[in-house]
Amino acid sequence: EVPPGVVSLGDYERHAQAILPADAWAYISGAGADGLTRRWNREAFDGMRLAGRVLADMTDAGTDTMLMGMPMSMPVLVAPVAHQKLAHPGGEVATVLGASAARAWMCVSTLASTTLEEIAEASQTTLIFQLYMQASREVTLSLVRRAEAAGYSALMVTVDAPVNGVRNDEQRAGFRLPPHVAAVNVQGFPTPSSRAGPGESPVFKGLLDTAPTWSDIEWLRQQTTLPVMLKGITSPHDAERALSCGVDAIAVSNHGGRTLDTLPSSIEALLAVADTVRGRVPLVLDGGVRRGTDVLKALACGASAVMVGAPVMHALAVAGPVGIVHMLTILRAELEAAMALTGCVRIDAIDEEILWPGKDAPG
Ligand code: FNR
Repeated sequence: EVPPGVVSLGDYERHAQAILPADAWAYISGAGADGLTRRWNREAFDGMRLAGRVLADMTDAGTDTMLMGMPMSMPVLVAPVAHQKLAHPGGEVATVLGASAARAWMCVSTLASTTLEEIAEASQTTLIFQLYMQASREVTLSLVRRAEAAGYSALMVTVDAPVNGVRNDEQRAGFRLPPHVAAVNVQGFPTPSSRAGPGESPVFKGLLDTAPTWSDIEWLRQQTTLPVMLKGITSPHDAERALSCGVDAIAVSNHGGRTLDTLPSSIEALLAVADTVRGRVPLVLDGGVRRGTDVLKALACGASAVMVGAPVMHALAVAGPVGIVHMLTILRAELEAAMALTGCVRIDAIDEEILWPGKDAPG
């Protein structure tokens, strides 16, 4: 099922672009505004060099690690990605089959095109429910209770998208969700945008007057015993605030460059947040991860794990569940090779020593 010559995540991206309709491609690959943050995500990884080490004893080497007290076979997660039926008719079920076969955790978007229960039913891996807070606490809580009942292991609250980014790529392509792709988990819920009256700002009145604030995060923390991770933090101040709300983990993310353009690259944001958090909660990074060496670099800069977003859609479009397992297996094999060539036997042994020059090295 995997076309010949597809051996890297970049290959999946090129093949997906050739297969997908132009407007779906514009949604999947569309960055905010001028796409600067998305470009910087890649440039930051590419600009970092590794310090190779030879002849290390790799007995008992492995990629297994822990996150929020739960074991994971490798520090790479499937990021929450909406509307997966755009890429493949099997949608999120296809993804969870692939993620399960690759033994990778999967985050399920509030805007999934399959019910969260059906995804859980098909899953043989650890699932995290990505929560977009809804216009009322009652409705938000109904989603949380469904995720708990379906056996999700944690909540990931995405906080960086209370308004839509300036998605010029999508606008130019005239992207609209086709009828066979719907956000079935929130169907019939009151949509914040319908609150803007005539002549009122759709941003300030329509969306932000019901957008969540820190007090909603404090409230949510009281409502569930599941671990709660906040996704979309780039500011050290916000990270400190998140800690005071009692969150269990932070996903440092600029949403793959899809929300506010000219936010710093994911790796720059990670360095700043890690400096403030100093190990008090685990950090997860996403944005631009395409190689095993990127995973290694993120871990060296203080992340406990990383997530991949757009590559999920690319792999799904090209080869469905087989594409997902292949894509994740490529990342695992690349990470293993990078660990071997930098002398890292275990995930928790990865630190800034593997960067050239090391953080504390002169010059
Ligand atoms: C996303 N992302 C996202 N995030 C989220 O919290 N909820 C969502 O529903 C979505 N939907 C979504 C759709 C598509 C098509 C993409 C590409 C991304 C963001 C995602 O979780 C992640 O932060 C980025 O994709 C990471 O960057 P890379 O790996 O795409 O470079």
